[in-house]
Amino acid sequence: MADKKIIAVVGSTGAQGGGLVEAILADPNGGFGVRAITRDTAKDKAKAIAAKGGEVVQADLDDVESLKKAFAGAYGVYAVTNFWEHFSGEKEKAQAKNIADAAKAAGVQHVIWSTLEDTRNLMPADDTRMPMLQEKYRVPHFDAKAEADAFFQGVPTTFLVTSFYWDNLYSFGLAPKKGADGVYEWTFPMGDSKLAGIAVEDIGMVAYGIFKAGQQHVGKTVGILGEALTISEMGAKISTAMGVGPVRYNAVDANLYRSFGFPGADEMGNMFQVYRDFATEVLAARSVDAARQLNPQLQNFDQFLAKNKSKIEPAMNPAPAQ
Ligand SMILES: NC(=O)c1ccc[n+]([C@@H]2O[C@H](COP(=O)([O-])OP(=O)(O)OC[C@H]3O[C@@H](n4cnc5c(N)ncnc54)[C@H](OP(=O)(O)O)[C@@H]3O)[C@@H](O)[C@H]2O)c1
Repeated sequence: MADKKIIAVVGSTGAQGGGLVEAILADPNGGFGVRAITRDTAKDKAKAIAAKGGEVVQADLDDVESLKKAFAGAYGVYAVTNFWEHFSGEKEKAQAKNIADAAKAAGVQHVIWSTLEDTRNLMPADDTRMPMLQEKYRVPHFDAKAEADAFFQGVPTTFLVTSFYWDNLYSFGLAPKKGADGVYEWTFPMGDSKLAGIAVEDIGMVAYGIFKAGQQHVGKTVGILGEALTISEMGAKISTAMGVGPVRYNAVDANLYRSFGFPGADEMGNMFQVYRDFATEVLAARSVDAARQLNPQLQNFDQFLAKNKSKIEPAMNPAPAQ
């Protein structure tokens, strides 16, 4: 591995980082090697990476010294923070600062920071259409990442603006499920706006394309999506791909969605409302062409559904609660 450029991957055992790890390991002659970062090197996903030839090291985003060690000697760093583990914008920012500080200390030549836009710029501060959350954010997991962009000043960084994972269908409980009348249905406050979506493995593949392009994208923002579809269009495609009847879309008011009470309902209500009310701006910040240039295998929603049918099917038909 000595002759290879090492990419230290934060979130290597997760969805985004895992996609990048796969992309690097699948291209043994590509000139890059993987250093997978995890808090627990004994977990199955970490062991699987080691078995495929990746280096696996322990570090914690809350411990900047551990990151400095993990980044030492690396050419690049893929950096993602996981809002959904703690639901705190402040903690997400603190972790991003640790990544940026450690990358600077280690002299890393290229960081890809997985970020999102600051949704507060889309509406006036006194706009009452959606509540402020955690006192100062509209969509904390977007706004905090955007605020964290500033920590990467002085670090050679590409700012990767990602999109809604279609994988949320099976990994985040968002698949349509049978209603009382036996018809599949799902509920979103999205009206008829198009949702910018992507297969999460393609985020990792795009990141690999960015590293392979050398310093070309350093200092730039790259916004990506696989395809933009309305919820009705997605439902129709699911219905065809899964061979089920029609998928009924309950287009609800964002206030109602925020009141559903599941953890993060207010956050997700605000997020979907941003996707609904500011679809033009959100879509303008992302490009299918840019994503495809960096990852020629970029999937559209039909391709994603065909590939992930076996994961989506059980998510649409969960075992009844005991
Ligand atoms: N879901 C979506 O549609 C979507 C769309 C765009 C952006 N995002 C963003 O994606 C982020 C999550 O990324 P993901 O989906 O790839 O996550 P994921 O699949 O849930 O995996 C989380 C990863 O983060 C690592 N991690 C978490 N806390 C850590 C810590 N303290 N120290 C070291 N590593 C830590 C975990 O590693 P170990 O557990 O092995 O230590 C794991 O590899 C969120 O912030 C979210 O806002 C999500």
